Amino acid sequence: MLSLSGKKILITGASSGIGKAIVEQAAEIGAKVVLMARREELMSEIVAGLKGDGHQYFAVDASDDNKVGASLKLAVSDGVPFDGFVHAAGSELTVPLKMLSRNAFEKVMSINTFAAFNISKILIQKGNFSLGGGAFVFIGSVMAALGQPAKTGYCASKGALMAGARAMALELAPKRIRVNTILPGMVKSEMSLGLLDSLDESGVKRIVEMHPLGIGEVTDVANVALFLLSDLGRWITGTSLWVDGGYSAM
Ligand SMILES: NC(=O)c1ccc[n+]([C@@H]2O[C@H](COP(=O)([O-])OP(=O)(O)OC[C@H]3O[C@@H](n4cnc5c(N)ncnc54)[C@H](OP(=O)(O)O)[C@@H]3O)[C@@H](O)[C@H]2O)c1
Repeated sequence: MLSLSGKKILITGASSGIGKAIVEQAAEIGAKVVLMARREELMSEIVAGLKGDGHQYFAVDASDDNKVGASLKLAVSDGVPFDGFVHAAGSELTVPLKMLSRNAFEKVMSINTFAAFNISKILIQKGNFSLGGGAFVFIGSVMAALGQPAKTGYCASKGALMAGARAMALELAPKRIRVNTILPGMVKSEMSLGLLDSLDESGVKRIVEMHPLGIGEVTDVANVALFLLSDLGRWITGTSLWVDGGYSAM
C-alpha cells in the first residue's frame, strides 16, 4: 500500500502547483513535510491546512546555497533526518536564442538544476539523511529530452538535471538513496496557465493536441512522485519517468 508514514520529506517549490500537490498528498499518507519556496504566506496557509503535525516551512530562495544550508541545518536540529527530497522548484524560460542572455540562462540553470544538486549534496552530509536510505525525486520536464523553439535555456536546464540524476543514482546506490526524474508534459499550474494565457486560441489548441490524453493536473505528477518516494519504488533508481498524457509517444 502507498504510505509515507513517519517519513520526513523535503519539498522545494512547495508554495504552488506540482510541489504544493506533493506536499498535500504526502501529508495525507503520513509524511512529515518540510516546505521550501520564497512565498511565506502561501506556505503558512498550506501548512495550516495539512493533515498531521510537525510540518515545517522555510521561506528561502532554493538557489541560495548559504540560506538553504542554514535552513536544512535547522530542519534536522530535532535529530530526525530526512527520508526523501523532491525538487519541484523551477522556472520557465521561453526566449529565442538570439535574445538569450547569459544572465537569464544562468538564472534558469540555477533554480532548475544547480539547486537540486546542491540540496542533494547537503542532504548526504552526516546526520541529514536517514541511514536506511530513501529517495530523491527531481521534477524535470518532457523538455529534458525533446526540443522546442525558444527553449534552449529551459531544455538545457532540464536535460542537465536528468543527466546529473543518473550519475547521482549510481553514486548514492550504496547508501540506498534512489534518485529519479519525472518528465511531465503540460499540467495546469501557475506556470503553464501564464503560458497558455499568452497564446491565441489556435496556439492553445495546438498544445492540447500534443497531449493525446489532454493537459494534465498537478496531482497526476504528484501521484508518481509519491510512488517513487515510497517503498513501492524501492527497486527504481537512475531512471526518468514520462508523465505526459502521451506527448512523447508522438
Ligand atoms: N506546469 C507544467 O506544465 C510543467 C511541465 C513540465 C515541467 N514542469 C516543472 O514542474 C516544476 C513545478 O512547476 P509548476 O508547474 O508547479 O509551477 P508553479 O506553480 O509556478 O510552481 C513553481 C514553484 O517553484 C517555486 N520556485 C520558483 N523559483 C524558486 C526559487 N528560486 N526558490 C524557491 N522556490 C522557487 C515557486 O515558489 P515561490 O514563487 O514561492 O518561490 C513555486 O512554488 C518546475 O520545475 C517546472 O519546470 C511544469
